[in-house]
Amino acid sequence: MACPFAHSAPDPASSGSTGGANPNLNPHLKPGDMPAVRHTNLTYGSYLKVAELLTLQQPLSVPPHHDEMLFIISHQVYELWFRQMLHDLHGVCGHLDADEPLKAAQLLDRVHKIQNLLIEQIPLLETMFSTDFARFRDNLRPASGFQSVQFRKVEFLLGAKNPRILDLVGDDQSARDEMTTYLSKSTPYDHFIAHLAREDHGRFNIPAAALKRDTSKPHELSEDLVTSLVTLYRAPYDKSLAVNERYWPQFIVAEHLLQMEEKLAIWRFHHVKMVERMIGFGSGTGGSSGAKYLRQTLEAKLYPDLWSVRDRLG
Ligand code: HEM
Repeated sequence: MACPFAHSAPDPASSGSTGGANPNLNPHLKPGDMPAVRHTNLTYGSYLKVAELLTLQQPLSVPPHHDEMLFIISHQVYELWFRQMLHDLHGVCGHLDADEPLKAAQLLDRVHKIQNLLIEQIPLLETMFSTDFARFRDNLRPASGFQSVQFRKVEFLLGAKNPRILDLVGDDQSARDEMTTYLSKSTPYDHFIAHLAREDHGRFNIPAAALKRDTSKPHELSEDLVTSLVTLYRAPYDKSLAVNERYWPQFIVAEHLLQMEEKLAIWRFHHVKMVERMIGFGSGTGGSSGAKYLRQTLEAKLYPDLWSVRDRLG
Protein backbone atom coordinates (compact mmCIF):
# COMPACT_ATOMS: atom_id res chain seq x y z
CA MET A 1 0.00 0.00 0.00
CA ALA A 2 1.30 3.41 -0.88
CA CYS A 3 1.94 5.77 2.00
CA PRO A 4 -1.02 8.15 1.79
CA PHE A 5 1.39 10.98 2.57
CA ALA A 6 3.83 10.02 -0.16
CA HIS A 7 2.56 12.41 -2.77
CA SER A 8 3.52 11.22 -6.21
CA ALA A 9 3.68 13.29 -9.35
CA PRO A 10 0.31 14.77 -10.28
CA ASP A 11 -1.79 12.54 -12.45
CA PRO A 12 -1.89 14.34 -15.80
CA ALA A 13 -5.17 12.61 -16.60
CA SER A 14 -6.81 14.33 -13.66
CA SER A 15 -8.05 17.80 -14.45
CA GLY A 16 -9.00 18.29 -10.79
CA SER A 17 -5.36 18.33 -9.61
CA THR A 18 -3.95 21.80 -9.53
CA GLY A 19 -0.56 21.00 -7.98
CA GLY A 20 1.17 23.32 -5.59
CA ALA A 21 2.76 22.94 -2.14
CA ASN A 22 2.43 25.05 0.96
CA PRO A 23 5.98 26.39 1.48
CA ASN A 24 5.04 27.24 5.09
CA LEU A 25 5.00 23.52 5.87
CA ASN A 26 8.40 22.76 4.40
CA PRO A 27 10.63 25.57 3.11
CA HIS A 28 12.39 23.15 0.73
CA LEU A 29 9.20 22.33 -1.14
CA LYS A 30 8.55 24.34 -4.26
CA PRO A 31 5.18 24.94 -5.85
CA GLY A 32 4.44 21.93 -8.02
CA ASP A 33 6.43 19.48 -5.84
CA MET A 34 3.20 18.12 -4.42
CA PRO A 35 -0.20 17.82 -6.02
CA ALA A 36 -3.13 19.26 -4.15
CA VAL A 37 -4.77 16.61 -1.98
CA ARG A 38 -7.88 15.53 -3.82
CA HIS A 39 -9.87 14.10 -0.91
CA THR A 40 -9.66 17.11 1.33
CA ASN A 41 -11.01 15.24 4.36
CA LEU A 42 -8.78 12.23 3.95
CA THR A 43 -5.89 11.96 6.38
CA TYR A 44 -3.40 9.22 7.22
CA GLY A 45 -5.44 8.40 10.30
CA SER A 46 -8.86 8.38 8.67
CA TYR A 47 -7.73 6.32 5.67
CA LEU A 48 -5.99 3.68 7.78
CA LYS A 49 -8.55 3.81 10.60
CA VAL A 50 -5.74 4.29 13.10
CA ALA A 51 -7.98 5.52 15.91
CA GLU A 52 -10.17 2.41 15.59
CA LEU A 53 -7.11 0.19 15.33
CA LEU A 54 -5.69 1.55 18.56
CA THR A 55 -8.86 0.71 20.48
CA LEU A 56 -8.36 -2.97 19.73
CA GLN A 57 -5.55 -3.74 22.19
CA GLN A 58 -7.33 -4.58 25.41
CA PRO A 59 -5.20 -6.35 28.02
CA LEU A 60 -7.07 -8.51 30.52
CA SER A 61 -4.55 -9.11 33.27
CA VAL A 62 -5.33 -8.07 36.80
CA PRO A 63 -3.04 -6.67 38.07
CA PRO A 64 -1.94 -5.30 34.66
CA HIS A 65 1.20 -6.85 33.23
CA HIS A 66 3.53 -4.77 31.04
CA ASP A 67 4.17 -7.59 28.51
CA GLU A 68 0.54 -8.38 27.72
CA MET A 69 0.48 -5.49 25.23
CA LEU A 70 3.34 -7.09 23.28
CA PHE A 71 1.50 -10.42 23.38
CA ILE A 72 -1.71 -8.92 21.99
CA ILE A 73 -0.05 -6.79 19.31
CA SER A 74 2.10 -9.71 18.11
CA HIS A 75 -0.95 -11.87 17.58
CA GLN A 76 -2.93 -9.09 15.92
CA VAL A 77 -0.09 -8.38 13.50
CA TYR A 78 0.02 -12.10 12.65
CA GLU A 79 -3.68 -12.01 11.85
CA LEU A 80 -3.19 -9.05 9.50
CA TRP A 81 -0.41 -10.83 7.68
CA PHE A 82 -2.54 -14.00 7.48
CA ARG A 83 -5.16 -11.86 5.80
CA GLN A 84 -2.68 -10.55 3.25
CA MET A 85 -1.36 -14.07 2.68
CA LEU A 86 -4.84 -15.37 1.92
CA HIS A 87 -5.41 -12.43 -0.43
CA ASP A 88 -2.18 -13.16 -2.30
CA LEU A 89 -2.74 -16.92 -2.36
CA HIS A 90 -6.10 -16.36 -4.05
CA GLY A 91 -4.21 -14.17 -6.51
CA VAL A 92 -1.73 -16.99 -7.15
CA CYS A 93 -4.57 -19.42 -7.94
CA GLY A 94 -6.22 -16.86 -10.22
CA HIS A 95 -3.02 -16.26 -12.18
CA LEU A 96 -2.44 -19.98 -12.60
CA ASP A 97 -6.02 -20.40 -13.84
CA ALA A 98 -5.31 -17.63 -16.34
CA ASP A 99 -2.07 -19.38 -17.40
CA GLU A 100 0.08 -16.54 -16.06
CA PRO A 101 2.82 -18.42 -14.20
CA LEU A 102 5.20 -15.45 -13.90
CA LYS A 103 2.53 -13.35 -12.20
CA ALA A 104 1.78 -16.29 -9.90
CA ALA A 105 5.52 -16.52 -9.13
CA GLN A 106 5.65 -12.84 -8.25
CA LEU A 107 2.84 -13.25 -5.69
CA LEU A 108 4.41 -16.41 -4.31
CA ASP A 109 7.60 -14.42 -3.82
CA ARG A 110 5.54 -11.91 -1.81
CA VAL A 111 4.06 -14.73 0.26
CA HIS A 112 7.62 -15.86 1.09
CA LYS A 113 8.48 -12.35 2.27
CA ILE A 114 5.40 -12.33 4.50
CA GLN A 115 6.41 -15.73 5.85
CA ASN A 116 9.87 -14.32 6.61
CA LEU A 117 8.19 -11.65 8.72
CA LEU A 118 6.10 -14.28 10.52
CA ILE A 119 9.27 -16.17 11.38
CA GLU A 120 11.26 -13.07 12.33
CA GLN A 121 8.57 -11.87 14.73
CA ILE A 122 9.06 -14.82 17.06
CA PRO A 123 12.29 -13.50 18.66
CA LEU A 124 10.45 -10.26 19.39
CA LEU A 125 7.88 -12.15 21.46
CA GLU A 126 10.73 -14.08 23.07
CA THR A 127 11.99 -10.86 24.65
CA MET A 128 9.22 -11.66 27.13
CA PHE A 129 10.58 -14.05 29.78
CA SER A 130 8.63 -17.20 30.62
CA THR A 131 8.41 -15.89 34.19
CA ASP A 132 6.55 -12.83 32.89
CA PHE A 133 4.27 -14.85 30.62
CA ALA A 134 3.39 -17.09 33.57
CA ARG A 135 2.04 -14.03 35.40
CA PHE A 136 -0.78 -13.39 32.94
CA ARG A 137 -1.15 -16.66 31.00
CA ASP A 138 -4.05 -17.95 33.10
CA ASN A 139 -6.16 -14.98 32.00
CA LEU A 140 -6.03 -16.28 28.42
CA ARG A 141 -7.64 -19.68 29.01
CA PRO A 142 -9.22 -21.28 27.01
CA ALA A 143 -8.18 -18.99 24.12
CA SER A 144 -5.31 -20.26 21.95
CA GLY A 145 -3.65 -19.78 18.55
CA PHE A 146 -5.19 -23.19 18.00
CA GLN A 147 -8.44 -21.35 17.23
CA SER A 148 -7.03 -18.88 14.68
CA VAL A 149 -9.58 -19.14 11.87
CA GLN A 150 -7.31 -17.42 9.39
CA PHE A 151 -4.35 -19.70 10.18
CA ARG A 152 -6.65 -22.67 9.55
CA LYS A 153 -7.82 -21.11 6.29
CA VAL A 154 -4.19 -20.77 5.21
CA GLU A 155 -3.52 -24.38 6.22
CA PHE A 156 -6.63 -25.70 4.46
CA LEU A 157 -5.96 -23.68 1.33
CA LEU A 158 -2.37 -24.92 1.19
CA GLY A 159 -3.47 -28.53 1.62
CA ALA A 160 -3.36 -29.38 5.35
CA LYS A 161 -6.95 -30.69 5.17
CA ASN A 162 -7.88 -31.90 8.60
CA PRO A 163 -11.65 -31.69 9.27
CA ARG A 164 -11.16 -32.36 13.00
CA ILE A 165 -9.75 -28.84 13.26
CA LEU A 166 -13.31 -27.54 12.71
CA ASP A 167 -14.21 -28.68 16.23
CA LEU A 168 -11.63 -26.36 17.78
CA VAL A 169 -13.68 -23.22 17.20
CA GLY A 170 -16.33 -24.40 19.63
CA ASP A 171 -19.81 -22.98 19.12
CA ASP A 172 -18.75 -20.31 16.62
CA GLN A 173 -20.88 -21.51 13.69
CA SER A 174 -19.91 -18.69 11.31
CA ALA A 175 -16.19 -19.45 11.86
CA ARG A 176 -16.92 -23.13 11.24
CA ASP A 177 -18.79 -22.31 8.01
CA GLU A 178 -15.97 -20.09 6.74
CA MET A 179 -13.40 -22.76 7.50
CA THR A 180 -15.52 -25.48 5.88
CA THR A 181 -15.44 -23.61 2.56
CA TYR A 182 -11.65 -23.60 2.71
CA LEU A 183 -11.49 -27.29 3.52
CA SER A 184 -12.67 -28.23 0.04
CA LYS A 185 -10.90 -25.49 -1.94
CA SER A 186 -8.32 -26.66 -4.43
CA THR A 187 -4.78 -25.84 -3.38
CA PRO A 188 -2.29 -23.66 -5.28
CA TYR A 189 -0.61 -26.95 -6.21
CA ASP A 190 -3.90 -28.19 -7.76
CA HIS A 191 -4.12 -24.97 -9.77
CA PHE A 192 -0.50 -25.39 -10.80
CA ILE A 193 -0.98 -28.97 -12.00
CA ALA A 194 -4.09 -27.93 -13.97
CA HIS A 195 -2.08 -25.13 -15.56
CA LEU A 196 0.74 -27.56 -16.40
CA ALA A 197 -1.76 -29.92 -18.03
CA ARG A 198 -2.93 -27.08 -20.29
CA GLU A 199 0.69 -26.33 -21.19
CA ASP A 200 1.48 -30.01 -21.68
CA HIS A 201 1.55 -30.38 -25.49
CA GLY A 202 2.22 -34.08 -25.04
CA ARG A 203 5.33 -33.49 -22.98
CA PHE A 204 4.46 -34.04 -19.30
CA ASN A 205 1.63 -36.60 -19.45
CA ILE A 206 -0.14 -35.26 -16.40
CA PRO A 207 -2.20 -38.19 -15.04
CA ALA A 208 -5.95 -37.62 -15.41
CA ALA A 209 -6.51 -38.65 -11.77
CA ALA A 210 -4.50 -35.63 -10.60
CA LEU A 211 -6.96 -33.32 -12.34
CA LYS A 212 -10.05 -34.69 -10.68
CA ARG A 213 -8.86 -35.53 -7.19
CA ASP A 214 -11.01 -34.91 -4.11
CA THR A 215 -9.77 -31.47 -3.09
CA SER A 216 -11.07 -31.83 0.46
CA LYS A 217 -8.29 -34.41 1.06
CA PRO A 218 -4.56 -33.81 1.51
CA HIS A 219 -2.27 -34.41 -1.46
CA GLU A 220 -0.97 -37.97 -1.65
CA LEU A 221 2.21 -39.03 -3.38
CA SER A 222 1.59 -39.91 -7.03
CA GLU A 223 4.54 -41.62 -8.71
CA ASP A 224 3.03 -40.81 -12.13
CA LEU A 225 2.85 -37.14 -11.29
CA VAL A 226 6.41 -37.22 -9.98
CA THR A 227 7.42 -38.58 -13.40
CA SER A 228 5.70 -35.57 -15.01
CA LEU A 229 7.50 -33.24 -12.64
CA VAL A 230 10.87 -34.86 -13.39
CA THR A 231 10.28 -33.93 -17.04
CA LEU A 232 9.45 -30.37 -16.00
CA TYR A 233 12.51 -30.10 -13.76
CA ARG A 234 14.80 -31.37 -16.53
CA ALA A 235 13.26 -29.31 -19.34
CA PRO A 236 15.07 -26.02 -18.64
CA TYR A 237 18.42 -27.83 -18.71
CA ASP A 238 17.74 -29.95 -21.79
CA LYS A 239 19.73 -28.30 -24.59
CA SER A 240 18.23 -30.72 -27.12
CA LEU A 241 14.89 -28.98 -26.65
CA ALA A 242 14.62 -26.05 -29.00
CA VAL A 243 12.45 -24.40 -26.37
CA ASN A 244 14.45 -25.24 -23.26
CA GLU A 245 13.56 -21.91 -21.64
CA ARG A 246 9.91 -22.52 -22.40
CA TYR A 247 9.10 -24.15 -19.08
CA TRP A 248 11.29 -22.02 -16.82
CA PRO A 249 8.27 -20.12 -15.37
CA GLN A 250 6.53 -23.39 -14.43
CA PHE A 251 9.74 -24.71 -12.90
CA ILE A 252 10.05 -21.53 -10.81
CA VAL A 253 6.42 -21.80 -9.64
CA ALA A 254 7.05 -25.40 -8.55
CA GLU A 255 10.11 -24.33 -6.55
CA HIS A 256 8.18 -21.43 -5.01
CA LEU A 257 5.43 -23.80 -3.87
CA LEU A 258 8.00 -26.00 -2.18
CA GLN A 259 9.65 -22.98 -0.57
CA MET A 260 6.30 -21.84 0.79
CA GLU A 261 5.86 -25.23 2.45
CA GLU A 262 9.42 -25.12 3.79
CA LYS A 263 8.85 -21.68 5.33
CA LEU A 264 5.62 -22.82 6.97
CA ALA A 265 7.58 -25.71 8.52
CA ILE A 266 10.29 -23.29 9.71
CA TRP A 267 7.62 -21.14 11.37
CA ARG A 268 6.14 -24.23 13.02
CA PHE A 269 9.55 -25.30 14.29
CA HIS A 270 10.40 -21.87 15.66
CA HIS A 271 6.94 -21.60 17.24
CA VAL A 272 7.33 -24.95 19.03
CA LYS A 273 10.78 -23.98 20.33
CA MET A 274 9.26 -20.75 21.64
CA VAL A 275 6.48 -22.78 23.28
CA GLU A 276 9.03 -25.06 24.97
CA ARG A 277 10.91 -22.00 26.14
CA MET A 278 7.80 -20.27 27.47
CA ILE A 279 5.79 -23.11 29.03
CA GLY A 280 8.06 -26.17 28.85
CA PHE A 281 6.15 -29.36 28.08
CA GLY A 282 2.94 -28.42 29.86
CA SER A 283 -0.44 -28.47 28.12
CA GLY A 284 -1.59 -25.50 26.03
CA THR A 285 -4.29 -22.98 26.90
CA GLY A 286 -6.25 -24.53 24.01
CA GLY A 287 -6.20 -27.90 25.78
CA SER A 288 -3.71 -29.79 23.61
CA SER A 289 -0.60 -31.54 24.92
CA GLY A 290 1.30 -28.35 23.97
CA ALA A 291 4.80 -28.82 22.57
CA LYS A 292 4.21 -32.58 22.16
CA TYR A 293 1.20 -31.93 19.89
CA LEU A 294 2.99 -29.16 17.98
CA ARG A 295 6.01 -31.38 17.31
CA GLN A 296 3.75 -33.87 15.49
CA THR A 297 2.66 -31.15 13.07
CA LEU A 298 6.26 -30.78 11.87
CA GLU A 299 6.20 -34.11 10.05
CA ALA A 300 3.25 -33.70 7.65
CA LYS A 301 4.07 -32.89 4.01
CA LEU A 302 1.79 -30.66 1.93
CA TYR A 303 3.19 -31.45 -1.51
CA PRO A 304 4.79 -34.92 -1.36
CA ASP A 305 5.33 -35.03 -5.16
CA LEU A 306 7.44 -31.89 -5.06
CA TRP A 307 9.62 -33.36 -2.32
CA SER A 308 9.86 -36.70 -4.06
CA VAL A 309 10.96 -35.28 -7.40
CA ARG A 310 14.34 -34.52 -5.83
CA ASP A 311 15.00 -38.21 -5.26
CA ARG A 312 14.84 -38.80 -9.00
CA LEU A 313 16.99 -36.00 -10.30
CA GLY A 314 20.38 -37.66 -9.81
C1 HEM B 1 4.08 -16.92 24.33
C2 HEM B 1 3.91 -17.26 23.08
C3 HEM B 1 3.13 -18.46 22.65
C4 HEM B 1 2.88 -19.62 23.32
C5 HEM B 1 3.36 -20.04 24.70
C6 HEM B 1 2.08 -20.44 22.45
C7 HEM B 1 1.61 -21.69 22.78
C8 HEM B 1 0.90 -22.51 21.96
C9 HEM B 1 0.46 -23.84 22.29
C10 HEM B 1 0.75 -24.56 23.59
C11 HEM B 1 -0.23 -24.32 21.24
C12 HEM B 1 -0.91 -25.70 21.12
C13 HEM B 1 -2.40 -25.53 21.21
C14 HEM B 1 -2.89 -25.31 22.63
O1 HEM B 1 -3.17 -26.28 23.33
O2 HEM B 1 -2.99 -24.13 23.02
C15 HEM B 1 -0.22 -23.29 20.23
C16 HEM B 1 -0.80 -23.42 18.98
C17 HEM B 1 -0.79 -22.42 18.05
N1 HEM B 1 -0.26 -21.16 18.18
FE1 HEM B 1 0.85 -20.49 19.68
N2 HEM B 1 1.87 -19.79 21.27
C18 HEM B 1 2.48 -18.56 21.35
C19 HEM B 1 2.50 -17.58 20.39
C20 HEM B 1 1.86 -17.67 19.19
C21 HEM B 1 1.82 -16.63 18.20
C22 HEM B 1 2.51 -15.27 18.27
C23 HEM B 1 1.06 -17.08 17.18
C24 HEM B 1 0.73 -16.30 15.96
C25 HEM B 1 -0.45 -16.30 15.42
C26 HEM B 1 0.62 -18.41 17.52
C27 HEM B 1 -0.17 -19.20 16.73
C28 HEM B 1 -0.50 -20.49 17.02
C29 HEM B 1 -1.20 -21.35 16.10
C30 HEM B 1 -1.64 -20.99 14.69
C31 HEM B 1 -1.36 -22.56 16.74
C32 HEM B 1 -1.99 -23.82 16.16
C33 HEM B 1 -0.86 -24.64 15.51
C34 HEM B 1 -1.29 -25.99 14.99
O3 HEM B 1 -2.34 -26.53 15.41
O4 HEM B 1 -0.55 -26.54 14.16
N3 HEM B 1 1.14 -18.73 18.73
N4 HEM B 1 0.47 -22.22 20.69
